[in-house]
Amino acid sequence: MNLHMNLDSDSYDIIIDHGCLAKADEHLALDRKVLVVTDAGVPARYAKNVACCCKEAYIVTIPQGEGSKSFETLQTLLATMLKNGFSRTDCVVAVGGGVVGDLSGFAAATFMRGIDFYNIPTTLLSMVDSSIGGKTAINFSGVKNCIGAFHQPKKVLVDPSVLHTLPDRQIANGLAEAIKMAATFDADLFTWIEQNEIKSSLDTIIARSLAIKKNVVEQDEKESGLRRVLNFGHTIGHGIESCAMGNLYHGECVALGMLPMCAPEAKKRILNVLKKTGLPTELCFDASEVFEAITHDKKRDGEHLRIVYVPEIGSYEIKKVTIKEFEHTVKEAFTK
Ligand code: GLY
Repeated sequence: MNLHMNLDSDSYDIIIDHGCLAKADEHLALDRKVLVVTDAGVPARYAKNVACCCKEAYIVTIPQGEGSKSFETLQTLLATMLKNGFSRTDCVVAVGGGVVGDLSGFAAATFMRGIDFYNIPTTLLSMVDSSIGGKTAINFSGVKNCIGAFHQPKKVLVDPSVLHTLPDRQIANGLAEAIKMAATFDADLFTWIEQNEIKSSLDTIIARSLAIKKNVVEQDEKESGLRRVLNFGHTIGHGIESCAMGNLYHGECVALGMLPMCAPEAKKRILNVLKKTGLPTELCFDASEVFEAITHDKKRDGEHLRIVYVPEIGSYEIKKVTIKEFEHTVKEAFTK
């Protein structure tokens, strides 16, 4: 199945097909110098497979984890391209999850003022969400994604057959983002997730989540309005992520972050789906700690936050709340 992201001159195809990674050269223009970026947690054969399809490939394997979204690792990628005589007509291919995609997309965005970038996501989280839409970034000074660029890929290859090597916890991690999309935009998909066995339904979940995201990005590529809804669960989720210091996955934090941000009936349904998919439903920190982590750079009084709220499954509201109101919501939701 193919989807097409319509973004004028930045339009591209999203290929969803079992086995497409092994046939990368049928889909991507690899008859040139190619920087293939992967991480140490991804089976090495995936990147080697892609490299074998290229005219001249250089594989860089970065350490696994968020710590690789750094200036240092970015420099490694840029230096590899410079040292090996890459020009503006060469390209970067990401073979991995969100960290690999964000970092290598940013390297492609900045090298020689921007070169072609292809994304081959290998985690469920990157397949359903981060591999499309063109957000690329590194972290800086403890702030997530604060240095980055919008740089759309030229093509995205989603090969669900690679998911068989992923542990269950990683599958659940990705499902959190799919649940987020269904909860805000697609009540039918949400019901479908409630009613079906998940592991045998991943192809459907991937295709339908990507279709939702594609539709959102086509309407608001640079996140000036509608795309903000994709941040449902992320404001609190990011706070939880910083308290967890690497012990919880991004999707697990987003799962928890969705719970305080919906009406009671929607919350009940989200809770049940989180339990079904093996995602956490209870916070293992103090709610005040999470609140502090979210607002540590904000003045306490008078300042507002924009939050995404789900009044009913399949719908959303963007609400402007005061810091005080937000503090009350977080503490009420998580205080036992
Ligand atoms: N992951 C949310 C977005 O791409 O906007």
